[in-house]
Amino acid sequence: MGNDNPGNGTPVGGTLPIPELLEGKDVNGVLHYDLDIVNAQHSFFEGIQTATYAISGTYLGPTLLLKNGMDVSINYTNKLDVETTMHGHGMHVPGKMDGTAHQPIAVGARWSASYRVQQNACTNWYHPHYLHKTAPHVYQGLAGMIIIEDSESQALDIPKRYGIDDIPLVLQDRFFSADKTQLDYSPSNMQLSNGYIGDTFITNGAIEPTFDAEAKEIRFRLLNGSNSTVYELGFSNGKNFRQIASDNAFLEKPVNMNRIILSPGERAEIVVDFTDDTGASLRLEEYRYSKTFLKININKNATAVTSLPAQLTTLDPVATPTNSRQFRLGMAGMGVFTINDKTMDMNRIDAALSQGDVEEWEVINDMGVDHNFHIHGTHFRVVSRNGSTAQVLENEKGYKDVVYLPANETLKFIVEIPADGVTADSNNPYMFHCHFLEHEDNGMMGQFTVS
Ligand code: C2O
Ligand code: CU
Ligand code: CU
Repeated sequence: MGNDNPGNGTPVGGTLPIPELLEGKDVNGVLHYDLDIVNAQHSFFEGIQTATYAISGTYLGPTLLLKNGMDVSINYTNKLDVETTMHGHGMHVPGKMDGTAHQPIAVGARWSASYRVQQNACTNWYHPHYLHKTAPHVYQGLAGMIIIEDSESQALDIPKRYGIDDIPLVLQDRFFSADKTQLDYSPSNMQLSNGYIGDTFITNGAIEPTFDAEAKEIRFRLLNGSNSTVYELGFSNGKNFRQIASDNAFLEKPVNMNRIILSPGERAEIVVDFTDDTGASLRLEEYRYSKTFLKININKNATAVTSLPAQLTTLDPVATPTNSRQFRLGMAGMGVFTINDKTMDMNRIDAALSQGDVEEWEVINDMGVDHNFHIHGTHFRVVSRNGSTAQVLENEKGYKDVVYLPANETLKFIVEIPADGVTADSNNPYMFHCHFLEHEDNGMMGQFTVS
């Protein structure tokens, strides 16, 4: 629990904080979301203020609600005393709106990600992407969710009352200083090849908070918002749930399961049916580290009923690639991470793609440690793991933008660049990288263009 020092505060716990839902302010047909990136103080422990970074709040940021087809302008004002950036993870936006290290937000400056939303319903998120500093900036609290809706998501009979039966869960882990006034990102806690794995697990910025649920289907939007920790999640009573969406879209059909593994940056929307559980209490647990993320009491009557359909969407068949590339994850000496023996260089373009391209990317992790792989600007379909199509999990068969690569595994996925989609030139390229933030910050990242 990170509270091994009695007298230094008990976790606030309390009711699960639900980030405010921002729908945008209409300015001449463009929805504006005005966000301040600030230094703040947050109460993780009773009577103690912990120094944080936050977005228009005290830790993390509001949830942005976007709709497919709308024009938006997400306006970030940097009120920190350091330069940072803000990336829309999972967003299919032009390179210059991507919020990477190529679009820094100077101290005191405002930067806008302005674009037309052109993608299907999903759960995305935003976080800094500053060269060599993504990990510490996220660690201090900079992240928030983005919910995209479309006509399909609005029509489905699924839980969609935000904060009532549609619940965002930003899952993280942190170390705190002994007096709990700081989030502790000191090098002494860094595991050389694994990165930063905290001892205190937090959910929407609270330590083991409680959610009072209606006795009905509840949808949880799970985000692994950690720096480097792979979570294996499930309910304490072993209860089954159904995954309805992977990173970037609905799955065709709900996938029944009782454990789900999420590596850093991955999202999953799950629906768990508490209809017959009135009076029950259970926990959302993390099984690799034996931690509790959330306590759940089913103590409210359903005020509206939903019934998850058997079919959620229809996905296009996986396209046939016309080109292939290989990416080998590696290290070049102490703490220098590489892809194809090269460490990240903002002036080097590693791959030039064109609109309409379909490519097979093979990512090889022959190291003894875990990694994952994330792509900007688009998404992909996983087609094989370790050379076998049978090893691709049922819940990996939708659109993803981050995929887990445990030690010594290889996978292949198909990247489709839409013929009429967004582009990125060499001044504002997209990135691909390991989303273990300490690996990313230390070089396990490359850049590509789409023309
Ligand atoms: Cu979530 Cu390139 O990042
Ligand atoms: Cu991203
Ligand atoms: Cu990695």
